[in-house]
Amino acid sequence: MWRRFLTWLDDRTGWSGPLAKILRYPVPEHAHRNPLFTLGGLTLALFLVQAVTGMLLAMYYEPSPEGAYRSTDFIQFELPLGWLVRGVHHWAASLIVITVVLHLARTYLYGAYKRPRELTWLIGIVLFLVTVAFSFTGYLLPWDQTAYWATKVGTEIAGSLPGLGPLLLRLMRGGLEMGQATLTRFYATHILILPGILVLMLAAHLLLMRRYGLVGPLAGQAEGDGQGGKQRDKSVPFYPDHLLYEAIIALVVIFLLIAASRFFPAPLGAEADPTDASVVPRPEWYFLFYYQLLTYFPGWLEPVATVLIPIFFFGSLVLLPFLDTGSERRPWKKPVTTGAFIFYALAVVVLTALALMR
Ligand code: HEM
Repeated sequence: MWRRFLTWLDDRTGWSGPLAKILRYPVPEHAHRNPLFTLGGLTLALFLVQAVTGMLLAMYYEPSPEGAYRSTDFIQFELPLGWLVRGVHHWAASLIVITVVLHLARTYLYGAYKRPRELTWLIGIVLFLVTVAFSFTGYLLPWDQTAYWATKVGTEIAGSLPGLGPLLLRLMRGGLEMGQATLTRFYATHILILPGILVLMLAAHLLLMRRYGLVGPLAGQAEGDGQGGKQRDKSVPFYPDHLLYEAIIALVVIFLLIAASRFFPAPLGAEADPTDASVVPRPEWYFLFYYQLLTYFPGWLEPVATVLIPIFFFGSLVLLPFLDTGSERRPWKKPVTTGAFIFYALAVVVLTALALMR
């Protein structure tokens, strides 16, 4: 029955030809079954989970200071399976940050940013920023004390930027103070603007990845485009072989997210009270390192942490494909790029640990 329906549809649309062409591209054997090469696909799967759970949450969520907390409380404690939908959305948001960073680390260490994949890499950096923006805008939505005060501090940091700061603060808050306009802007950005940018950027990222294929293995070769010698011949089709492998991993992860929602429900503190500044604003764990960094640059030194260090960090990522242009991709043969990677990774781990100990 299903087959007959598909044949009927194919007769009228001719969809199967182009689809097969898109899906049956070769995945090099070294990448198939290498978990490091599934991180991009897993991130994509998690974004799909976010889209589905986000749509369900939007059916009950009220984006107003009076309704935001009440409706989140309703979803969490009264709506049948509301805890599950909110829990999966909450834990998947944290996991996406981990998978995106690991995917970035994998492409960095494999030298996948090199010619001809510079654009894939640059679009990846935009995707990374979009992921961070999703987290930042989503954090405010439950409108509980931590969400309110952490976002107040977050927008104040943006407001302290020299030059553009005050404009940025008004743009984010929709005025000088936090209120209805802030919530509306964060909500619109979270459910409309960022998903739009994400879809466009992802399409470009995947088309480029499809065009140039995946980078070759590290051991035993060091050519620039990663399509070296014999490896080119050894491959499996993306559909069904590699897709099945990725789907199994995604299903296991979704199962773990369900378990996490059951045993560690998504948190919801007391309702936001703009007059009660006694709360110590605590950002999500993945922003902790940055809050710790800020403590070392008080007063007039603050722009070092808010402007110079981010410009240096993102600037080095953007320039990487244009600075490291040699054909060598093995990390152990590239002390400068690998050293920079270790330095960044250590800095984030140590700063996060220090923030947790405070
Ligand atoms: C929303 C976030 C992202 C998604 C969903 C995504 C998705 C993917 C997928 C499915 C692949 C092919 C399979 C794989 O390598 O895992 C890929 C490849 C690639 N991605 Fe991403 N990506 C994202 C973010 C990033 C970031 C942050 C970077 C780095 C700045 C990046 C750089 C690359 C590069 C260079 C490749 C080619 C890899 C190679 O040839 O080995 N991506 N991406």
